Amino acid sequence: MNRKKIVAGNWKMYKVIREAIDLVRGIIKRVGEYRDVEIVVCPPFTALKPVSEIIVDTSVRLGAQNVHWEREGAFTGEISPIMLRDLSCSYVIVGHSERRTYFGETDKGVNSKVKAVLNEGIIPIMCVGETLQEREVGKAQEVVRTQVQNGLTGLSSTEVKKVVIAYEPVWAIGTGKTATPFQAEEMHRFIRSILSDMFDGSTASETRILYGGSIKPSNARELFVQPDIDGGLVGGASLDVESFVSIVEAARNIQEKNR
Ligand code: PGA
Repeated sequence: MNRKKIVAGNWKMYKVIREAIDLVRGIIKRVGEYRDVEIVVCPPFTALKPVSEIIVDTSVRLGAQNVHWEREGAFTGEISPIMLRDLSCSYVIVGHSERRTYFGETDKGVNSKVKAVLNEGIIPIMCVGETLQEREVGKAQEVVRTQVQNGLTGLSSTEVKKVVIAYEPVWAIGTGKTATPFQAEEMHRFIRSILSDMFDGSTASETRILYGGSIKPSNARELFVQPDIDGGLVGGASLDVESFVSIVEAARNIQEKNR
């Protein structure tokens, strides 16, 4: 199964409009023509519109970092899937561990968001991952299994194949501590086995699973070369043109070799 690799940049709460424009211009200048790897940038809400205007006619895709599950309504401060579609968003990150930790997001809410965005034709990047404490007590797989099962409850296999899952061990996010390629591959393979149990073999082999957590130019290759790792969700290293581009190049080189 040759799944197309994805490199998605999660800009988090960084970059005012001017800076976002500079960053995305730098990215498209270098990799804006690449078609063999999917490149996604996820700026903060305030920069979605200006970034969308710059990436038009390039192969770079736009993603948001969060979404509400209702189409519209009295939900002060929230942004709906139709609003994201209106801004030409193709992707949205759902259930990032920072949202789970600081904003009380639950698996149930993640599941509602996944369904809502698929209904609007937007691809959810659904994040799962264990904390350090959970790993140390041997509960990593159990935690990830629960998050995957709850997040995908009620979806058909056709819908699940559109979802991108991001395995992001919480202890590796923004810490400089990356999962070893072995640890990451082991969990990705485990996630495929969950998909196989919940749905079927083709869903397990077609669904793309990204790794996230301190990906850098120096470790991207050894992670992306793993058979069950289909690219990365990159935080800190996506804020700089050079480092993001070299991570994209790592994914592209591997994609080409696998052809
Ligand atoms: P990081 O963040 O690359 O800075 O560790 C990844 C993420 O939070 O998606």
